[in-house]
Amino acid sequence: MGKVILTGDRPTGKLHLGHYVGSLRQRVELQNSGEFEKIFIMIADAQALTDNADNPEKVRQNIIEVALDYLSCGIDPTKATIFIQSMVPELTELAFYYMNLVTVARLERNPTVKTEIVMREFGKSIPVGFYTYPISQASDITAFRATTVPAGADQEPMIEQTREIVHKFNSIYGETLVEPEIKLPSNCACMRLPGTDGKAKMSKSLGNCIYLSDTAEDLRKKVMSMYTDPNHIRVEDPGCIDGNCVFTYLDAFSRPEHFDAYLPDYASLDELKAHYQRGGLGDVKVKKFLYAVLQEMLEPIRARRKEYEQDIEGVYEILKKGCEVARAEAAETLDMVRRAMKINYFEDTELIRQQSEMYKSAK
Ligand code: TRP
Repeated sequence: MGKVILTGDRPTGKLHLGHYVGSLRQRVELQNSGEFEKIFIMIADAQALTDNADNPEKVRQNIIEVALDYLSCGIDPTKATIFIQSMVPELTELAFYYMNLVTVARLERNPTVKTEIVMREFGKSIPVGFYTYPISQASDITAFRATTVPAGADQEPMIEQTREIVHKFNSIYGETLVEPEIKLPSNCACMRLPGTDGKAKMSKSLGNCIYLSDTAEDLRKKVMSMYTDPNHIRVEDPGCIDGNCVFTYLDAFSRPEHFDAYLPDYASLDELKAHYQRGGLGDVKVKKFLYAVLQEMLEPIRARRKEYEQDIEGVYEILKKGCEVARAEAAETLDMVRRAMKINYFEDTELIRQQSEMYKSAK
């Protein structure tokens, strides 16, 4: 059986560098590796609504933004199916059956959900839909019989939950569902890219993001005002690399060729770091280098985005076709699930025959 990818993002804003290094870049590489038989990339609008029920407009407006970001990063609609979650109602049905296989206590233990509940300040008013989104995520993954979920480290608990549901389902109803694996980014600086303010995570709500759609000028401003080492005041001062996000970004994005092109005085990132730690290297020089590295990477993405922005109808057409393909796939899984659970009543000639004979013979 061929390998299948399913992954996705909530459409609550434009995608940023954290998404890019955490998952997007790898998705494009995997797409182009030819290793996968099928690739599904989902815009998780229904999941986004679990904590935005009062603001569907935000979700509605951001579907196109996420689609544009995907396409401009190099997701190719001839190789990957891009679709919108809520347009595949089979996913909801599947989640409804899975809910019976998961305990409330187990949901309570999910570390990602726990953190998000604190971040969103839900207190005691947690929407049930939000609480159960790990179950819905298990349907997203299993509906496509995905073997591989390229995602950031924050999604690990979701995949774990999915695997548990798969085990439970298969042990009760017979071997039906496919157990997925997460595929994390290989570079550890990419696992959790800090925000430009040095805070733990790049996140829209913290206002510390570099967006894929930022202009070159926005990018320059954001890089030049990035958090570095607060004690590195004069150029001569020794500087600290740990927690200095300019260097974390260089870990994530710079390659040896970048030094030849933009900073030929240094042969490698290690040399640059050593100089910074010794003292005598100013932040501005390092930031200008980082800007050049990011600019080289983002410029083609921005250019492709501009093209797709001029054909929004075409992008919706891509999504619509994607939804049709995704729906057919999910419907197949759902047939298998219904058969396994023996809730495929009208197909179940055996059931109908038995009951019919039982009543006839009792007459
Ligand atoms: N939880 C993901 C996010 O926060 C979105 C998502 C929904 C997803 N369903 C998924 C990711 C299935 C991977 C697999 O962006």
